[in-house]
Amino acid sequence: MSLKRKYYSGRDYRKALSIEELRHIARKKIPNFVWEYVEGGAENEVSLHGNLEALKSIKFIPSTLVDTSNRNQVVKLFNQQINSPLIIAPTGLNGMLRHQADFMLARSAKQNNIPFCLSTVANVRLEDVVKQANGKIWMQLYVMKDRNIAENIIARAKSTGYEALVFTSDANVFGRREWDQRNYYMPAKLTMRNLLDVARHPRWIFDVLVPHGVPRFENIVEFMPPEARSASGGVAIFPKLFASNISWDDVKWLRDRWPRKLIIKGILNAVDAQRAVEHGCDGIILSNHGGRQLDGCISPIEALPGVAEAVGDQTTIIVDSGFRRGTDIIKAMALGAHSVMIGRAALYGLAAGGEEGVNHALSLLTTEIDRVLGQLGCRSLDEVGPHLLVRDKF
Ligand SMILES: Cc1cc2nc3c(=O)[nH]c(=O)nc-3n(C[C@H](O)[C@H](O)[C@H](O)COP(=O)(O)O)c2cc1C
Repeated sequence: MSLKRKYYSGRDYRKALSIEELRHIARKKIPNFVWEYVEGGAENEVSLHGNLEALKSIKFIPSTLVDTSNRNQVVKLFNQQINSPLIIAPTGLNGMLRHQADFMLARSAKQNNIPFCLSTVANVRLEDVVKQANGKIWMQLYVMKDRNIAENIIARAKSTGYEALVFTSDANVFGRREWDQRNYYMPAKLTMRNLLDVARHPRWIFDVLVPHGVPRFENIVEFMPPEARSASGGVAIFPKLFASNISWDDVKWLRDRWPRKLIIKGILNAVDAQRAVEHGCDGIILSNHGGRQLDGCISPIEALPGVAEAVGDQTTIIVDSGFRRGTDIIKAMALGAHSVMIGRAALYGLAAGGEEGVNHALSLLTTEIDRVLGQLGCRSLDEVGPHLLVRDKF
């Protein structure tokens, strides 16, 4: 008998028992070039795989015979109660997975009472997201060469009531995702193999491409040259919009302009975490961009204990990259995180089943968190801590 684990092989997202099974379903529902855009990491994908390995290398030491019948997983994040220690991460080009996908993610986050963070390179207008789901909505910001783009987004996010601005600091020199690149024979032109593959996904074609046309970078469209406004054209010129001269001075600049919560995403060491605190930031996100930027990079979960020791009592620490299970999330909380961002886990749900698929992904994770809390002998996330873990690799 084969010992290889078998996954659900159908297409019904409701039957997925884990995020990994949603991933298998998602793979079938979107064309290869979209799948590889979502799934791929930078260069040799050492960071991408390292994120999963680092989480696996942490083991639990449970307590037994504790009455956990009244357990809950609510947490306070920036003085607001949220139902679970989860945030939906900003991911660009979601409109390539589903038409108006960011509305689905925002509505699902609202329904689950957790924050949703919209990407600068989303395919829907930030104003419309608030109209669709006026929940805990955050705006992610890429500061690009043309600072007018940031000025414009900040002003609009401020006037529409976004709660937080998430400044992504780790993409100034853009990562090279080779799978993604190989799917085009020239900018915006898919290879023949990929075109044939698109033709095998009629449902996707009639949801994403027809009748709306290729999704555009709706929030920055007026700053893009006409040939780069759509998702397919923009991808090629996108890395060129970023500036490697962005520095802590830009954080000062942002702090002066943004009156609400300011969070820096892409911190991976205690010195930078301390600097973020000194610059008046309200929170930090430990992230290696889901393995899409620097390859061979420390995993955020490995950086977390040192950062939590340095600034855990002075700022809010969020962590992302590689979180696929309730066990992963509880490990981060035990090491000092205040919450966890999920990127691909939500996107798998989205591709597999739209808004209901995202709800299903969140329900899988929250059910797992609840079960693991009980198995560890904890009634709430306040009771988890490093005493529950052994770390054999770091
Ligand atoms: C398809 C995709 C697009 C992304 N786009 C953005 C983005 O526009 N802005 C950003 O700050 N991070 C972006 N990220 C990174 C995520 O915010 C997050 O850091 C990462 O997905 C976490 O890792 P995980 O996917 O393993 O959960 C993207 C990630 C993916 C997978």
